[in-house]
Amino acid sequence: MNAPSPELLEKLAQLLGPKGYTADRDAIAPWLTDWRGRFHGESVALLSPANVDEVAAVMRLAGEYGAPLVPQGGNSSMVGGATPPADGSALILSLRRMNRVRSISPADGVVVAEAGVILANLHDAVAEQGMRFPLTLGGKGSATVGGLVSTNAGGTQVLRFGTMRALTLGVEAILPDGARFDGLNPLKKDNRGYDIRHLLVGAEGTLGVITAASLRLVPAILDRAVGWIGVDGPHQALKLLRLIEGRAGDAIEGFEIVPADSLALVLRHIPGTRAPLGGDHPWHVLVELDRSDPAAQAPAAQLEGLLAAALNEGLCRDATIATSEAQAEAFWKLRDSISEAERAQGPALQHDISVPVAAMPDFMLSAAETIRSAYPGVSVSAYGHLGDGNVHFHVRAPENPPADWQKTAGAAISPHVHDLVVAAGGSISAEHGIGQMKLAENARLADPARLMALGAIKAALDPKHLLNPGKLVPLATDRTAP
Ligand code: MLT
Ligand code: ZN
Repeated sequence: MNAPSPELLEKLAQLLGPKGYTADRDAIAPWLTDWRGRFHGESVALLSPANVDEVAAVMRLAGEYGAPLVPQGGNSSMVGGATPPADGSALILSLRRMNRVRSISPADGVVVAEAGVILANLHDAVAEQGMRFPLTLGGKGSATVGGLVSTNAGGTQVLRFGTMRALTLGVEAILPDGARFDGLNPLKKDNRGYDIRHLLVGAEGTLGVITAASLRLVPAILDRAVGWIGVDGPHQALKLLRLIEGRAGDAIEGFEIVPADSLALVLRHIPGTRAPLGGDHPWHVLVELDRSDPAAQAPAAQLEGLLAAALNEGLCRDATIATSEAQAEAFWKLRDSISEAERAQGPALQHDISVPVAAMPDFMLSAAETIRSAYPGVSVSAYGHLGDGNVHFHVRAPENPPADWQKTAGAAISPHVHDLVVAAGGSISAEHGIGQMKLAENARLADPARLMALGAIKAALDPKHLLNPGKLVPLATDRTAP
């Protein structure tokens, strides 16, 4: 690919003005590397349109000059999905200036937010109206609405409310030819064939650029109970989940599993953290029960009863319930900081995988054993969304690894893990997407019909591969690409 033409850059600078266009190296630098520091790209300009018309104009100019664009929100992709290619051929299209909450309708339970709205700000804006946007995740301080929709993000509340796909009621997007798809109207029924909204959710910015979304709101929480529980292992944890689901039904908001070594990393690397329970436990569970309806049972009393029953039935070793909001937040911080703690610890290989929920406990233990014995010295932690059948299966390097461990001694590990996942009937990407990190592995393992459909859809909408090239869709499967 060629470097972007000076004539195009000149036109973009004129179109976007000094606030929307920069070629300054220092201003661009933070957006060239992914959060985990595994992918480094190059780009000569950062484009930050202020509104949807400017996005459309940028897209038309890019099409005219054949310049690839990499849409970017908070740059918090876990799979290098928002990092530009290393050859400097692409321009970064940042949506961060489009950060308006356009409307909030508590009566309809809908918020319309622009792509650049940061998740934590969205939470605050709707809370002021007595409402809640239920999806949340560790990166809520940087992840944006556009990125969350484009990656069909999950997080820690999927159990009750589903992923972004379930919460996205409509989208506005600019398609590769510059046309505006105006699908924000949150129609409950709309049966006009292919659902463009669902095509764009999880498309990783390869089919269009999301500029705004209509998102589902639920009533604000009246009160909640957050518990930290020591358990023997994943089998016991899953039985505990079923017990809580059976008796607390819809009140269960979160259920996350944390192995002892992940907790230890958090305690070592994240200042101000402390273990909620005395004594050592091999595994832990964080559970949250909520209520929005004052007539429902208070969550603290409900959780207390459930944990007493669990202790009685031998489903937990010890447990504590947060006695204040600050303590509840502290429990969640332990869970949400695992990635950050692991990053501070050293090189690791991350696998964001799913298998059928009932098969997950066996998979977690047997896959960990297989990998530990095949690669002596590595540490394996599987943590996260057990109730969704999705854990983050992370393999950390042995002591004092070489800087390029992931690409040398560790290179065989991810294909090995993925083979185990496929053999268990699972997915190699449960929530983070394919991006560039899993591109080759998806091409190796996905069934041919899936790859054919991906390539054909990409070729139909973006035949020149100008949108987020090198992510999700392998160039080779696009039969019409030049
Ligand atoms: C999590 O659940 O903590 C995230 O998806 C991030 C991660 O895999 O590190
Ligand atoms: Zn996760």
